[in-house]
Amino acid sequence: MNKNTILVTGANGEIGHGLIEHLAKSDGVQIVAIDMNPMDKSIKAKCHKAIVGDILDFGLLETLSTAHDFDTIYHLAALLSTRAERQPTLAHRVNVDGTLNLLELAITQSRLQGREIKFIYPSSIAVYGLPDVVTKHKSGKVKENQWCEPRTMYGINKLYNEQLGRYYTHYYRQLDVEPARGRVDFRGVRFPGLISALTVPTGGTSDFAPEMLHQAAQHLPYDCFVREDTRIPFMAMPDAIKALLHLQAAPRERLSRLVYNVGAFNPSAGEVYARIRNDFPDAKVGFLPDQKRQVIVDSWPEDVDDSTARTEWGYNPEYDFERAFSEYLIPAIRNRYDTPSKQNNR
Ligand code: SER
Repeated sequence: MNKNTILVTGANGEIGHGLIEHLAKSDGVQIVAIDMNPMDKSIKAKCHKAIVGDILDFGLLETLSTAHDFDTIYHLAALLSTRAERQPTLAHRVNVDGTLNLLELAITQSRLQGREIKFIYPSSIAVYGLPDVVTKHKSGKVKENQWCEPRTMYGINKLYNEQLGRYYTHYYRQLDVEPARGRVDFRGVRFPGLISALTVPTGGTSDFAPEMLHQAAQHLPYDCFVREDTRIPFMAMPDAIKALLHLQAAPRERLSRLVYNVGAFNPSAGEVYARIRNDFPDAKVGFLPDQKRQVIVDSWPEDVDDSTARTEWGYNPEYDFERAFSEYLIPAIRNRYDTPSKQNNR
């Protein structure tokens, strides 16, 4: 049987872990994974090939393109927002030049295979930039075309990459005498903060919620770097993976956009702490805002309007705030850190 070959970049990251777990369950799929860091064993075993390498390495991408016929590319590799603020030129290289390289790989693949290549891209709420907290509260659920004035390097990179995706999908080499051969079908979701029970993010600014939870599960204190009343949207990792897979599978003719908001719940940092305390009563969280990171989170929307994703490709998160904790995060995190449940303590 001919297998569908899927390329996943940033495969060893948080989304990569969850995505590969899922993709590996489908018959007829082989995964080629690439990451800067050696892949965790559990993930590596599920890949046809697991390559340690840099998406800025043209030679490596060319070799990959020669060796495989990719059906879909999940381009997950990126430097997140806090890390990108600390190393803006590196972030630009990885986030923008890296994405351009992958889009070029997609076009080359499409030409070689004579068919469209799907390019699935996680964008972010960081593309939004609200000027102050009052405007943030007033704006409530932000639509895709509102407030696209990011204040971080990461947000700017993501917004620009969405535009690159539009260019490669609709206007690539528009001045050529012959219509360009090769087509990319770019599809993106603007993720809120993601919370996984299995992994902890690195270098993001929405990290306060997952960090708070993972510290509590290990009975460690945590200094939260934003105010208690800070509110942004979040999503449980299984819903994030589902969103990528569903968008990938949606018939193109149903899609009016290239990039969609997706959201699930939007607790304040204080509400996250209160919910964690239900299951980990000894959790100790101090709220010690880092003013500079606070300003970044304050510029992100309080919530997102994801009605277009719901209507057009059936986006429908399984986990609201309560279910995310009671049915996914708490049981899985207890398992991960081997912390007995309250019942077992009695
Ligand atoms: N989680 C990302 C970050 O904090 C935002 O999408 O950078």
